[in-house]
Amino acid sequence: MARRVAVIGAGVSGLSSIKCCLDEDLEPTCFERSNDIGGLWKFTETSKDGMTRVYRSLVTNVCKEMSCYSDFPFQEDYPNYMNQGKFWDYLQEFVEHFDLLKYIRFRTTVCSVTKRPDFSETGQWDVVTETEGKRDRGVFDAVMVCTGHFLNPHLPLESFPGIHKFKGQILHSQEYKSPEGFQGKRVLVIGLGNTGGDVAVELSRTAAQVLLSTRTGAWVIHRCSNGGYPYNMVITRRYLNFMAQVLPSCVLNWIQERQMNKRLNHENYGLSITKGRKPKFIVNDELPICILCGTVTMKTSVKEFTETSAVFEDGTVEENLDVVIFTTGYTFSFPFLEEPLKSLCTKKIFLYKQVFPSNLERATLAIIGLISLKGSILSGTELQARWATRVFKGLCKIPPSPKLMAEAAKKEQLIERGVMKDISKDKLEYITYMDDIAACIGTKPSVPFLFLKDPRLAWEVFFGPCTPYQYRLKGPGKWDGARNAILTQWDRTLKPLKTRIVPDSTKPGSMSRYFKVWGVPILLASLLLICKSSLFLKLVQEFPLTSIW
Ligand SMILES: Cc1cc2nc3c(=O)[nH]c(=O)nc-3n(C[C@H](O)[C@H](O)[C@H](O)COP(=O)(O)OP(=O)(O)OC[C@H]3O[C@@H](n4cnc5c(N)ncnc54)[C@H](O)[C@@H]3O)c2cc1C
Ligand SMILES: NC(=O)c1ccc[n+]([C@@H]2O[C@H](COP(=O)([O-])OP(=O)(O)OC[C@H]3O[C@@H](n4cnc5c(N)ncnc54)[C@H](OP(=O)(O)O)[C@@H]3O)[C@@H](O)[C@H]2O)c1
Repeated sequence: MARRVAVIGAGVSGLSSIKCCLDEDLEPTCFERSNDIGGLWKFTETSKDGMTRVYRSLVTNVCKEMSCYSDFPFQEDYPNYMNQGKFWDYLQEFVEHFDLLKYIRFRTTVCSVTKRPDFSETGQWDVVTETEGKRDRGVFDAVMVCTGHFLNPHLPLESFPGIHKFKGQILHSQEYKSPEGFQGKRVLVIGLGNTGGDVAVELSRTAAQVLLSTRTGAWVIHRCSNGGYPYNMVITRRYLNFMAQVLPSCVLNWIQERQMNKRLNHENYGLSITKGRKPKFIVNDELPICILCGTVTMKTSVKEFTETSAVFEDGTVEENLDVVIFTTGYTFSFPFLEEPLKSLCTKKIFLYKQVFPSNLERATLAIIGLISLKGSILSGTELQARWATRVFKGLCKIPPSPKLMAEAAKKEQLIERGVMKDISKDKLEYITYMDDIAACIGTKPSVPFLFLKDPRLAWEVFFGPCTPYQYRLKGPGKWDGARNAILTQWDRTLKPLKTRIVPDSTKPGSMSRYFKVWGVPILLASLLLICKSSLFLKLVQEFPLTSIW
């Protein structure tokens, strides 16, 4: 049974991994190459250390109730979507609350993780680290790799003929920190992901012109949904997930497209998805306004560059460009692993439930945080860590390696032959993935049972937002505060908004109050009148007036 666990990285995933180890009475040692916690959420003024980090203006794209550690809700006065600095404060509070700092060795890079000679019996690993030039070696019973999804910039210069001739400034978004230095410039942003949208919007306030080039387009989601409620809380619900599973995908897509275009006609704004490309979503509140005001101009993909200009696929040319920013995403790798594990871990189909490499005879290495979810990464990685630590302890089992390898290899073959679609890079449905992992641990909430036991809670679990607390209601890691956290989630959502209470009488909504107060008596009176008049009519019909006279 595992005892000593090496956790690599002290970002969002590493921190929950340390805590999950402690919850399972394991002994974690976390190695972090930088000098602080938080991983990419630790803002720095420069990117000289080569680490991917947030830019200054970054705001979370999943709201606080949907993206918190499942037994540690945000304080109620935190905004629903918050600036990177505030999110980092939350991580710091988490570390302090669970006293995690003492398990982290900062400025320590993991150089290699190799199987010990007796791995097939012990499942142990040799971990070599380097702290300020000094090498160290340790033996660990298990390893949690929490080094993130966004390790290296993806800079596809080879796809852009003539880019080497371009005389202006070229940078990748990993280097982008703030709009300073771009004032008055003509900037071309390449790639419409969340970063591309954010960078274009931010620069549009000071640059002379921003051009945003996209091959695919994107559905643009706003943080603020109908009624002003946080989008994620409105959309991430069990009953909607259930409906999505039973409805045919063409119907679903039709509904989704209608909804999206109702708020913003994507075609008119040059944002619609190019035929044949996989649809994608970005969160951005201001991009449509910038396009509407002409400060951001949407462009097709770039065909080629000249010394000062870009020629686009549609034949248009934009002259006098000063800067090209590649917001083309990131790649990941595991430089410290040995082959064939190193290559295998980069193929998601060879990771059982995106966590356990299929080729290990002992399940003592877990990749935490290599997921793309239609929802909070933080909550997803926390659940992965809860599961992994229980597998290490032998309390949860996973299928044997030969079976996993055979299944993954078969899938790979089918994909290569074009028989099967490769969906390993697609974003996973949040509730479906979370429930899948939770079922492995024994923490998936049983809604029918809950309706019998606690109908009020069941109602909120099924019809309300699927907040992470739902995975703390039962089973290993049950948290006594989970029920209350679920029943008060809307209070915490509304608290930071209600900073100006307006007396009821001046509310424009007071009409509805009058309606509520007077509605029932008026309705009863009308019903009575209708009954009376129909009685009267009946009487008239039965005893014609003439007969009275
Ligand atoms: C710009 C940006 C914005 C994002 N915004 C959101 C958002 O709003 N909501 C959301 O849910 N997700 C968001 N994400 C996704 C993000 O990946 C997760 O929120 C989360 O930060 C992932 O944490 P992590 O711990 O897995 O990785 P990271 O935060 O990348 O942490 C990895 C850590 O591992 C360390 N490390 C790496 N290699 C080694 C080594 N060899 N030895 C020792 N230490 C090592 C690194 O120094 C780092 O501290 C965003 C991502 C990006 C890039
Ligand atoms: N909190 C936030 O609001 C926030 C902000 C930023 C980032 N993030 C997160 O950070 C992560 C990384 O986001 P990201 O936007 O940096 O990367 P990304 O999501 O990978 O998007 C990169 C975009 O670059 C374009 N691209 C990729 N390869 C290309 C190529 N070869 N040629 C031309 N264009 C190419 C694609 O857009 P086209 O197909 O349109 O060309 C692609 O969508 C994501 O998880 C994201 O959610 C969150």
